[in-house]
Amino acid sequence: MIDVTDFLTEAPSAFREKTGEQLREHAAQALTRARRRSTTLTDAVADEDLVRQHSKLMSPLVWDLAHIGSQEELWLVRDVGGREPLRPDIDDLYDAFRHPRADRPSLPLLGPAEARRYVGEVRAKAFEVLERAPLEGSRLTEAAFAFGMITQHEQQHDETMLATHQLRKGEPALHAPAPPGARSGPLPAEVLVPAGSFLMGTSVEPWALDNERPAHEVGVGAFFIDTTPVTNGAYTEFLESGGYDQRRWWSDAGWEYRTAHDIGAPRFWRREADGWWRTRFGVDERVPAEQPVVHVSFHEAEAYAAWAGKRLPTEREWEKAARFDPATGRSRRYPWGDEEPTAEHANLGQAHLSPAAAGAYPAGASALGVHQLIGDVWEWTSSDFHGYPGFVAFPYREYSEVFFGPEYKVLRGGSFGTDAAAVRGTFRNWDYPIRRQIFAGFRCARDASGV
Ligand SMILES: [Fe+2]
Repeated sequence: MIDVTDFLTEAPSAFREKTGEQLREHAAQALTRARRRSTTLTDAVADEDLVRQHSKLMSPLVWDLAHIGSQEELWLVRDVGGREPLRPDIDDLYDAFRHPRADRPSLPLLGPAEARRYVGEVRAKAFEVLERAPLEGSRLTEAAFAFGMITQHEQQHDETMLATHQLRKGEPALHAPAPPGARSGPLPAEVLVPAGSFLMGTSVEPWALDNERPAHEVGVGAFFIDTTPVTNGAYTEFLESGGYDQRRWWSDAGWEYRTAHDIGAPRFWRREADGWWRTRFGVDERVPAEQPVVHVSFHEAEAYAAWAGKRLPTEREWEKAARFDPATGRSRRYPWGDEEPTAEHANLGQAHLSPAAAGAYPAGASALGVHQLIGDVWEWTSSDFHGYPGFVAFPYREYSEVFFGPEYKVLRGGSFGTDAAAVRGTFRNWDYPIRRQIFAGFRCARDASGV
């Protein structure tokens, strides 16, 4: 038998066959798609809803909008383009590191009309820069990286704005078709991932961010991982069995958090006489048993896993289950292969406003047979957020490095609210273990020593 670990390789660069013109076109389309989403999210509500703070956890939507423009101006217009600033006077207002979210409503922000005009002007200038910028010569311009970074930044704020919509009270403002139901036959509960090394991270994905780099070999012991994310139906069993009241399932920090905030169910759930209901973007509905659970903290995920006799996967286990092809020793760009996500592969891009049923994306399964790793819900892992061996901050320390440490847990795979531009097999997200307003769920794992 061939030992594939002798020739671990990484999927080739996504842009290897693109000419300069195709790269510019690709970047322009990605930027345009992001803007279409930002516009939908901000046009969906009245101006007073744009300037209001719907939760202390979130910025007013109008802050996100102008901040998107401000970052685009800084990186594309001024840095790559070398052009004069449009609005140097507002740099400070939209610097996320200077003003915590809770304080943002009291700042002298641009109003809705002004913010819309500003982002439009910046975008026109950014397109002028894109037409002429060299696509090589510096890491920022190589393969249009800065344009990819700004696209991802806007899409990340679009997901943040979607979370603000979820926290907003009032009539539904967003509409989308229901996600697909299960389309695969009965799936095994777990998949065995055999012991062995694989190549984690990337050194060639052109728009990968600093924390995804470089590719490096890691050894992983044999483990079982759930075939799909944990569903509402399974989670309800934990709830109904008194899981939130039994200290033994919770870590010290988790129990302290659960008791201090009197948490007894996923966020946005409530108990009615006839069962569990939830509010989803202003719509009241019965909790759908077949969909992955969403709006649970790391602590809740960890408690569920303990109750189920399992644990959360480490980040490297998650990535191996997602990317490793045991037949070739290669780490794929996505679970299903190297091609960009389509509607058949994954529930992404706010095409639907909820996770899809477990088993809804058979075409998106990984080589090892694990389903729905990309899309539907971000998945909590047990890992703290750290740089990979050989990490180099780029283009600035505040992108990732300042968040490294035990305070943040890594989430993987993206949610229904994440655009394809802002997730891939190597993409890493991080957040505090108490966070519940994000579109996060989880799946479980367990050791398979001796297998
Ligand atoms: Fe930002």
